[in-house]
Amino acid sequence: MERNPDKPTIFTIEKVIDETPTVRTLVFSDELLSKVLPGQFAMVWVPGVNELPMSIMISKEAGKAAFTIRKLGEASTALYNTKVGGYIGIRGPYGNSFTIMQGNLLLVGGGTGLVPLMRLLTFFKKNDKVTLLIGAKTKEEVFFEGLANQLLEKNQHQVIVTTDDGSHGEKGLVTNVVEKLVAETKFDAVYTCGPEKMMYKVVKLANKQEIPVEASLERMMKCGIGMCGSCCIGKELVCRDGTVFEGRSLLSNKEFGLTYRSKAGILENY
Ligand SMILES: Cc1cc2nc3c(=O)[nH]c(=O)nc-3n(C[C@H](O)[C@H](O)[C@H](O)COP(=O)(O)OP(=O)(O)OC[C@H]3O[C@@H](n4cnc5c(N)ncnc54)[C@H](O)[C@@H]3O)c2cc1C
Ligand code: FES
Repeated sequence: MERNPDKPTIFTIEKVIDETPTVRTLVFSDELLSKVLPGQFAMVWVPGVNELPMSIMISKEAGKAAFTIRKLGEASTALYNTKVGGYIGIRGPYGNSFTIMQGNLLLVGGGTGLVPLMRLLTFFKKNDKVTLLIGAKTKEEVFFEGLANQLLEKNQHQVIVTTDDGSHGEKGLVTNVVEKLVAETKFDAVYTCGPEKMMYKVVKLANKQEIPVEASLERMMKCGIGMCGSCCIGKELVCRDGTVFEGRSLLSNKEFGLTYRSKAGILENY
């Protein structure tokens, strides 16, 4: 019997994979999370610390799922430090999904925003032509480049990495490459997940070329189920109405890419 997604359930970590010096993937067995749609997330309880929203990472093994965590503050660092045999609590999956389009597809990811994009890659058909852009600050912070190439083995594809300091791939911001690509190639869809300012530029660039674009937003979340309001962006709640939003609706939202809400719910400028 499948577990009830709204009932917090305890899982044991079975494998820990170091992706970069600050990013780790924790693998565990859960049939339900192993089959989620691209863009869905779970609420992850780190015992004695806090509960965090996390995108659900794919696993190569059937019946397993994973989280890929960058250590930042107290809760993400505690989750990052969870060892094999350690336990976490999970609610979910929650949220909607990217729309699965076909044709010539462009994906733009930054940091752990790559997690839902890795799952999205597994939904494409072999006739789809796929370009994945990975933006990072330095070579040390690049991850999932090899995995993306493996997942796209059967597709005509390219994986392009940009680093701010030019230590790997192209030098500069990933959005500079997006600008060039969307001007010279007719893409059928653009998908993005990562820092909101990056997604704002990607959505604007795609919109200017009239290419359908979707972005998966990461806003401050507390309940994850539409009750507390901490993840609001204008009138929308990211946990309930997203996390995936269509580009034109985002550009008509006066908060997207410009302001965010702090833990106290105060509207701050990016
Ligand atoms: C839908 C969704 C999916 C997410 N998926 C992932 C995931 O797959 N992997 C992952 O590592 N994190 C993910 N996050 C972010 C995660 O939930 C936490 O916000 C983040 O790990 C920091 O939490 P913290 O409590 O440790 O740090 P905090 O104490 O909240 O913050 C510590 C520092 O990190 C900064 N910070 C907080 N959140 C972010 C953020 N999202 N991006 C950049 N800087 C931030 C803060 O401004 C502060 O300077 C996701 C968030 C959402 C809403
Ligand atoms: S996190 Fe509580 S309403 Fe979205």
